[in-house]
Amino acid sequence: MSQYSELSHVELEHLHRELMRRYEDWKGRGLSLDMSRGKPAGDQFDLISGMLDTLDSKSSLKSADGSDCRNYGDFDGIPECKALFCEMLGVSFDELFVCGNSSLSIMYDAIGKMILHGVRKGAAPWCRLDKVKFLCPSPGYDRHFAITERYGFELIPIEMTAEGPDMDQVERLVASDESIKGIWCVPKYSNPQGITYSDETVRRFARMKTAAKDFMIMWDNAYAVHDLYPGDRDQVLNILDECKKAGDPDRVMIFASTSKISYAGAGVAAFACSADNMQRMKKLMSIQTIGFDKINMLRHARYFGNLDGIMTHMDRQAQLLRPKFKTVLDAFERRLAGKGIAEWVNPKGGYFISLDVMDGCAKRVVGLCKSAGVVLTSAGATFPYGIDPRDRNIRVAPTYPTVPELEQAVALLCLCTELAAVEKLLLKK
Ligand SMILES: Cc1ncc(COP(=O)(O)O)c(C=O)c1O
Repeated sequence: MSQYSELSHVELEHLHRELMRRYEDWKGRGLSLDMSRGKPAGDQFDLISGMLDTLDSKSSLKSADGSDCRNYGDFDGIPECKALFCEMLGVSFDELFVCGNSSLSIMYDAIGKMILHGVRKGAAPWCRLDKVKFLCPSPGYDRHFAITERYGFELIPIEMTAEGPDMDQVERLVASDESIKGIWCVPKYSNPQGITYSDETVRRFARMKTAAKDFMIMWDNAYAVHDLYPGDRDQVLNILDECKKAGDPDRVMIFASTSKISYAGAGVAAFACSADNMQRMKKLMSIQTIGFDKINMLRHARYFGNLDGIMTHMDRQAQLLRPKFKTVLDAFERRLAGKGIAEWVNPKGGYFISLDVMDGCAKRVVGLCKSAGVVLTSAGATFPYGIDPRDRNIRVAPTYPTVPELEQAVALLCLCTELAAVEKLLLKK
């Protein structure tokens, strides 16, 4: 297979005509698929329908500590649900708080608290500062970036490497600039590349010197148990333990939820942090709520029992997801490999596949797909301010469509990737 950049102008024109003919053919097929967000599919929910039967009008609604889940109480969550998250995140009871249905809303709220009150001991509220900057490993999760953009922070993109964010760049920036107050991280099966941070990366996060005394690592472990291959699970070093060893346990807040384990938007979310930060968070939170939905916590705790119960369920979920990831990755291999027009990462878990098309082509590819009936995440969405400086990254969300739908969508995506690359090369030659 020759690299497209080696083709002559005439060969490229010929290829362009052929690709265009195939594209027009696709347009005539009336496809209508939305692959813009990483949503679970219905069969994933079918796997867990038993959870709804764990409680009925005859069930005891007392939690393990005897409190009535129908009433106020257990402000930081019922013990059996706290135990689930403590086991998942490797933290202790006094370091964990179970909230409502969404980890993203906890992150939004935590940043708000840092702005209004300061969360770390002695931290000045960031609203008093002229400038707050935040590091954004990119490609990354668009909604993280949107939170800090909405609050008016200056967002600084950080390159991703195979081991996580480029730590040379991170260390250099945070050591010299006091207005850099934090960083967004998805440490396991990152959104969208599926990269898991290496032990060395985690240790460097814990040990790095920060000019800001109130620097905060927003450690969103959204895909902590979302392994595609039960025999080959990635492990992330425990960031809170590493921060304790390095002498600054207050620099991290950890987040997780069951949105991609049980019900998206109707699961349970939690955060963890040092006991000191937790005390401060509890004081602030006690004004905003008397407590979260303990009946849903109870449902989750009774259904899963413990982390083993979650892992068994996630392994069943992986059986549904593996063929979908394989469909996309096989198509990339078959249709794009060796042409010098695209690169991708084979993730071992998580919810996404990240495709880098030829520089300057992502918007065009997404636009071409849309005109032929397949909606992808907007090009640029995986970067701060929605601007991908190389206009090359496309986030593919393979979980929601069926395998036959994915086969069609990815065939079209590959065709559009080729078409946009050939258009670009024709302009150069
Ligand atoms: C990295 C990451 N964090 C958080 C979320 C949202 O989680 P929740 O539903 O708990 O708000 C998502 C959803 O796609 C995600 O990819």
